[in-house]
Amino acid sequence: MSKHDSNVIVGLDIGTSKIACVVAEASPDGSIDVIGIGKHPSRGLRKGVVVNIESTVESIRLAVEEAEMMSGSDIRSVFVGIAGNHIQGRNSHGVVATKNGEVTEEDVTRAVDAASAMAIPADQKILHILPQEYIIDEQDGIREPIGMSGVRLEARVHMITGAVSSAQNIIKCCNRCDLDVADMVLEQVASSESVLSQDEKDIGVVLVDIGGGTTDIAIFINGAICHTAVIPIGGDHLTNDLVIGLRTSAREADVLKIKYGSCMVEMIGADEQVEVPSVGGREPRPMPRQIMAQILEPRVHELFELVKSELQRSGYEELIAAGLVLTGGSSLLEGMVELAEETFNGLPVRLGRPQGVGGLVDVVSSPIYATGVGLLLYGQRYRQQTPHKHPSQSQKGIWHRMRRWFGDTT
Ligand SMILES: Nc1ncnc2c1ncn2[C@@H]1O[C@H](COP(=O)(O)OP(=O)(O)OP(=O)(O)O)[C@@H](O)[C@H]1O
Ligand SMILES: [Mg+2]
Repeated sequence: MSKHDSNVIVGLDIGTSKIACVVAEASPDGSIDVIGIGKHPSRGLRKGVVVNIESTVESIRLAVEEAEMMSGSDIRSVFVGIAGNHIQGRNSHGVVATKNGEVTEEDVTRAVDAASAMAIPADQKILHILPQEYIIDEQDGIREPIGMSGVRLEARVHMITGAVSSAQNIIKCCNRCDLDVADMVLEQVASSESVLSQDEKDIGVVLVDIGGGTTDIAIFINGAICHTAVIPIGGDHLTNDLVIGLRTSAREADVLKIKYGSCMVEMIGADEQVEVPSVGGREPRPMPRQIMAQILEPRVHELFELVKSELQRSGYEELIAAGLVLTGGSSLLEGMVELAEETFNGLPVRLGRPQGVGGLVDVVSSPIYATGVGLLLYGQRYRQQTPHKHPSQSQKGIWHRMRRWFGDTT
């Protein structure tokens, strides 16, 4: 039996460690139920960027097939994530005069257009233009300007650009699996849809998505995104440190990290032992768990120090009353929340699990699925909203540019 296509939304998270394909069915009331999941180890990426098309295509195909089997649907179109340190975010603003003394949809479009009319490098393309606020005459902090009186309309936006080649490679991989790309979404923008509450975004919060290859950051103030960044350190670095420190294979080190790892030495009893498999056919050997934590703690501490520097650089350090929300697979490492609290001098820190969907909730409630579920929620919003409110293509110009960009690859 095949599910009715127009009600099905699919999020495809092409991560450095895994490809996750999450399928959901949308109800007329706007709620969405997860009906299938496919997950497969990812082989063709480095630090969030596709470096091997063949391997990536193969992994996507297997994840999508699994999700199709589970959901009983035929997947043709996906909302896909994009990440990597080629991504750049900047704040910008544009001003226009309103035509009739009252703000119309067209005025908003022109203002956002003006805000995005800045020179970007030739090898970069606009991914998102996310409106932050509108200022009408002298009044700031306006989120819904249409219909308000005023002669001068200013739009403040956060503009996110990415390398054309990276985006084209993602589209190429999807097309090779017979999948259309409905939209491409920055991974931390997607994750923020599924793990952050509106309250947190309003009072100021930092999303920290710690994956396998990278740690992706997004800062929200007054309900809008105002800073994005990528730190090229993730769980794979922790695994590599264990490979060297414990002299075992990468596969075993990853298993040991997930089962017994911790980044807080003080949380581990001195008598706790683990069995470390050796390489080259030698006997497994016992080892105090504290030794693993002594290897992992400095690296995670270094990562949080880098997040802290990024926060200071952004200039929003004093404005994040809701603190940090950690998500992504590596946020599951024991001691993460505690070490973040310690590093960020008592700022609130919590683990972010995907929320806001029904259906197979137990499976997708792991932070590993933050991006996959976020892509679904983003996709649902995209279907529901009128073009000018679309969080990415807030105006027709961008939509046309995106279309042309997609078209470039075919
Ligand atoms: N319980 C756990 N404890 C510690 N680490 C974990 C746990 N579960 C998964 N990980 C680690 O999380 C990482 C994968 O996380 P995730 O699936 O979010 O990455 P990804 O999205 O594929 O990568 P990226 O976002 O960097 O491209 C791996 O390094 C894995 O070892
Ligand atoms: Mg990820």
